[in-house]
Amino acid sequence: MTSRPAYSSFAWAYDTTIEEATESRIHFITSMLRRRKLPSNAYIFDAGCGTGSYSIALGQKGLTVLGMDSSTELLEQAKQKLIFTRTPHVRFIHGNLLTEPSDIKVDAVLCRGVLGDILVKEDRQKVLEHLADILRASQGTLIMDVRNWETTRSCTELSWQRTYQTTRGELFFAQDISFATHLPQTLDVKETHKLKSSAEEQIASHTFQLYTWRPYELCQALAEAGFKDITLTGGYEEQSLPKTTQWLVAVATKRE
Ligand SMILES: C[S@@+](CC[C@H](N)C(=O)[O-])C[C@H]1O[C@@H](n2cnc3c(N)ncnc32)[C@H](O)[C@@H]1O
Repeated sequence: MTSRPAYSSFAWAYDTTIEEATESRIHFITSMLRRRKLPSNAYIFDAGCGTGSYSIALGQKGLTVLGMDSSTELLEQAKQKLIFTRTPHVRFIHGNLLTEPSDIKVDAVLCRGVLGDILVKEDRQKVLEHLADILRASQGTLIMDVRNWETTRSCTELSWQRTYQTTRGELFFAQDISFATHLPQTLDVKETHKLKSSAEEQIASHTFQLYTWRPYELCQALAEAGFKDITLTGGYEEQSLPKTTQWLVAVATKRE
């Protein structure tokens, strides 16, 4: 079990606190897969699928999806959503991207928000190599995102906080983000959850590090892991330039 409350004791609140425009991103993802000549019923591996929002949205578009995550609690949320939405052809499994043997073969891999959680350079490279391994050769496509160091480092305010009304009570969530002093290209993130219900107040505070990537470094790591035709954008919009946002989205094809 991970010690980060967002991935464990507060996994139930993950979708509430991490709000995302999933629909427009799914549009970008499916059009990238079409452009790289993948069939409309392609088999997708959602590496580090979390609560499965993207796996389920892709399943609803007719794709077959296998989602994997190392957090049992987030996977539980994913499985509940799968039952609730009755989405066919989507399956979730527990696993660690650093250690899993690659006996799965898929047409495409989606890996969102995962490579920032892995702080050791060799481990990040190992994950990229595993992702290349499970892709079928020639048209196998990877779509992944990370945080861009080049743009993040010039931001003066990265911290944010918000309060939400949930079925369990009022939830306060904050991310206090600063630049790590001892690790290069790394952010210190102090995450706080405070849940106030009529019966009690539950507080969880946790500090962790998040690795951010330089665009050139990401291209180089992907090429070393066996990818070609790498394109970078600043988000899930084709026109979004890498310099303009704090994010980097890479689309790449596995080499023969
Ligand atoms: C920021 S969340 C993103 C979740 C999901 N991809 C999404 O876009 O909603 C990162 C996810 O990566 C998972 N993760 C981190 N390291 C992992 C590893 N070594 N193996 C499997 N999953 C991992 C975490 O448990 C978490 O669910």
